[in-house]
Amino acid sequence: MLWKFSHRAQSLKSSTIREILKVTEQANVISFAGGLPSPDAFPLTEIRAAANAVLESNDIYGALQYGPSEGYKPLRLWIANYLSQRDNVTVSVDEILIVTGSQQALDLIGKTLLDSNDKVLVETPTFIGALQSFNQYNPQYVAVASDEDGLIPDSIDDEVARTAKFLYSIPNFQNPTGRRLSLSRRQALAAKAKQNNLVLIEDDPYGDLDYQGQRLPALYTLAPENTVYLGSFSKILAPGLRLGYIVANRQFISKLLPLKQASDLHTPSLTQYIAYQIVSKNNFLSDHIPKIRQIYGSRCQFMLQSLAKYMPQEVSWNQPEGGMFIWVELPEYINATELLKEAISQKVAFAPGETFYVHSEKNNCLRLAFVTVPEEKIDTGIKILADIIKHHIH
Ligand SMILES: Cc1ncc(COP(=O)(O)O)c(C=O)c1O
Repeated sequence: MLWKFSHRAQSLKSSTIREILKVTEQANVISFAGGLPSPDAFPLTEIRAAANAVLESNDIYGALQYGPSEGYKPLRLWIANYLSQRDNVTVSVDEILIVTGSQQALDLIGKTLLDSNDKVLVETPTFIGALQSFNQYNPQYVAVASDEDGLIPDSIDDEVARTAKFLYSIPNFQNPTGRRLSLSRRQALAAKAKQNNLVLIEDDPYGDLDYQGQRLPALYTLAPENTVYLGSFSKILAPGLRLGYIVANRQFISKLLPLKQASDLHTPSLTQYIAYQIVSKNNFLSDHIPKIRQIYGSRCQFMLQSLAKYMPQEVSWNQPEGGMFIWVELPEYINATELLKEAISQKVAFAPGETFYVHSEKNNCLRLAFVTVPEEKIDTGIKILADIIKHHIH
C-alpha cells in the first residue's frame, strides 16, 4: 500500500535511542533506563477490592457507560478537596478536567496553545514525552538554563517571556534530573510570569514523592492566574489506570474540552470509578504515599551509596530529595549515547542525556532510574557501569 501520509506523520522519526533501548526489555539486562514506577508500590489489595466493589454494586452501570467529558464528578470533587488541603488553596470542581494520564494533558495543551513557530520555553534538560506532544506543532523551543536548584528564572529574557506561548516546567523531582525547583526560584518564576503575562505549565507527577514529606509551594498557588497545573495518579496509584487531571481556569478548560472530546470523548469511566473508590476511603493516600516515599527513598540512598563506592572522581551526580531519578554528569569528552552501546553489551542500560535536550546541546549526562531495580542489582549494575566509564577517563 502506498500510504498518503500527512506532512506531520511524514516528519515523525523513530528514535535511535528507543531502538537501542528495546534490547533492555530482555530479562537479563539490569535496566536503569525506564521511567516506570515500582510495582512494589502498587496498592494491589485496594485496587482489587475497589474493582470488585465497583463491578458488584450499582456503580457498574456508570462505570461501563459513556460518561461526562469533564470526568466523573465525585472524583473531580475529591481532587478539588485533596489539592485544597495539600496546597492550601481553593480549587473548584469546575476548574478540574480529568484526562487519560497527564500525557494527554500535554497533548491537549499543545493543541490548545500552539501554532507553527510559536515560542515555547522549556527547562533544559526536560521530559521527552512533553517534547513529543509539542513537536507536532513545530514550535520554536527556547531552552531555559537550569542548575541544581532547577530552572533559572533570571536567565529568561523578558521579551521572550512576553512573546512565548508558555513555559513548561516540572518543579518537583524533575524528569530527567530529579531536581527540585527551590523556593526562591519558584517565587522568582511566579513574579516573572505575572510581570510578562506568561503562562506556566506546571507538570507535577512526582510532587507527592518527596522522601521527607516537605512539599514546597506549587506554582499554581504562587501565580494562580498564570498557571495550568497537571496532576497524575500514575505514581501514587498505578500508571495502567491512565488517570491524570488538569487544573486551570474555566475559560481555558472550555477550550480543552472539545479537543478532549475529539480525542477520546472522556477518560475511561471504569478506572475513574475504581480510583475514586480507593482514594475516597479512610484517607487512603495519607497512609499509602508515605509507603512509596519509604521504598523510593531507600532505593535512592542505596544507589547513591553504590555510585559513591564505584564511580571515578571525575563523575558527579545529584542527591535527589524525592522522585525516581538521579542525574549523572560525565567528563565532557565522554559521549553517553556511545557509552550506552557498550553498557548494553554488558547487560546494563541507562537513559542517555542527549535526548532530553531540545537542541541536543549536551551528551555527557545520563539518567538513572532506581525504583524498579532490586538493591543487589543496583549494586552490580553501577559497578559494571563505573568500570566501563573508568576505561574512558583520561
Ligand atoms: C514529567 C512527566 N510528565 C508526564 C508524564 C506522563 O504521566 P502519565 O502517566 O500521567 O500520563 C510523565 C511520565 O513519566 C512524566 O515523567
